[in-house]
Amino acid sequence: MSFAKNILITGGAGFIGSHTVRRFVNTYPDYHIYNLDALTYAGNLENLIDIEDKKNYTFIQGDIRNEKYINDIFNEYRFDSVIHLAAESHVDRSINDPLAFAKTNVLGTMVLLNAFLSLWKGDWEEKRFYHISTDEVYGSLGETGQFTEITAYDPNSPYSASKASSDHFVRAYGETYGLPYVITNCSNNYGPNQFPEKLIPLFINNIIHNKPLPVYGEGINTRDWLYVIDHAMAIDLVFHKGMIKETYNIGGFNEWKNIDLVKMLCKQMDEKLGRKKGRGEELITYIKDRPGHDLRYAIDATKINKELGWSPTVTFEEGLSQTIDWYLNNTDWLKNVTSGAYQNYYKAQYH
Ligand code: NAD
Ligand code: DAU
Repeated sequence: MSFAKNILITGGAGFIGSHTVRRFVNTYPDYHIYNLDALTYAGNLENLIDIEDKKNYTFIQGDIRNEKYINDIFNEYRFDSVIHLAAESHVDRSINDPLAFAKTNVLGTMVLLNAFLSLWKGDWEEKRFYHISTDEVYGSLGETGQFTEITAYDPNSPYSASKASSDHFVRAYGETYGLPYVITNCSNNYGPNQFPEKLIPLFINNIIHNKPLPVYGEGINTRDWLYVIDHAMAIDLVFHKGMIKETYNIGGFNEWKNIDLVKMLCKQMDEKLGRKKGRGEELITYIKDRPGHDLRYAIDATKINKELGWSPTVTFEEGLSQTIDWYLNNTDWLKNVTSGAYQNYYKAQYH
């Protein structure tokens, strides 16, 4: 059977990648979706059990740092589009091992760009390279203001520096070689299947097990939260309608100070677990701040809203409630990902 498009999605076994792969496989039966993932600690094929037998879906285990392998699969499958999500994604891990972030996020992205370039050699009709990035490239805001698409890059963590660098390479390949790219910079995602090293799933897991909730610093840092399924919808829209060589910011219009978010999470968890009011909050423990901790992120998502008609569909209260329910109903998933290497990571991070 021939397909209208052969799309490579990288990092499709991870958090946002798995929701993106599911959306494309289910919505576009005439596209063939190839999910390339190295299955690092963050990649998990259990995230995609419901679509693994679909005829328009193929999983490929492979590493974007491996140049020969990546060139071979581009020649074999002739991907006409790439949606690139594979990355090392956790800021705390980047502080402990910055080089690993440069290798995957910068060099891995360049390997993909080169493979795409060598395959199509300027024949760009109906082709596109969609690079998924983050709002962290813009650095930190004070009490006011928002990031727009023309805010200057000012990354502060090794993670955000590596993502900023990859964004620059994508743009440079567009200017220098004419490679048809589009980039989106999104705010903090939350939802089902997020690895419990990130704030929301980590704290849900700790509340379930009555463990301390390690809030960095004074808990006053502010993030803009977006439900992951709304992000996957935005990715679909930008992939199909986004203008080549453009950047779009994606955000939830939903800023929360960490401590306020944690208190709301505790309240919802107390109710869902049938625990006495205030039990969750008793677990809050203020610990040493993250080095270089950005104070505040806020996205101005006017461009994607006005030009492509996207806006979030899920309120934070609903999304958080659905997320908690998902973790409470998938304790085996949580147990599997928190056994083994996770225990060592957790001890080293939180002593
Ligand atoms: P994640 O850590 O959950 O998943 C990353 C995936 O990439 C995993 O499946 C992992 O196995 C795979 N991967 C890692 N290194 C690889 C390599 N060398 N080769 C092939 N695969 C590899 O990440 P996420 O939170 O889903 O983020 C996905 C993308 O979205 C990243 O590029 C991230 O920078 C970006 N992003 C994330 C957020 C967020 O809030 N999580 C927000 C904005 C942008
Ligand atoms: O803004 C988009 C970015 O959001 C993505 O690019 C990253 O991939 C993603 O990991 C996320 O980065 P953050 O550093 O904002 O997310 P994290 O969940 O690690 O932390 C959210 C906030 O909570 C941040 O201010 C740090 C704080 N925090 C986090 C952890 C893990 C704590 O106070 N305690 C914790 O244990």
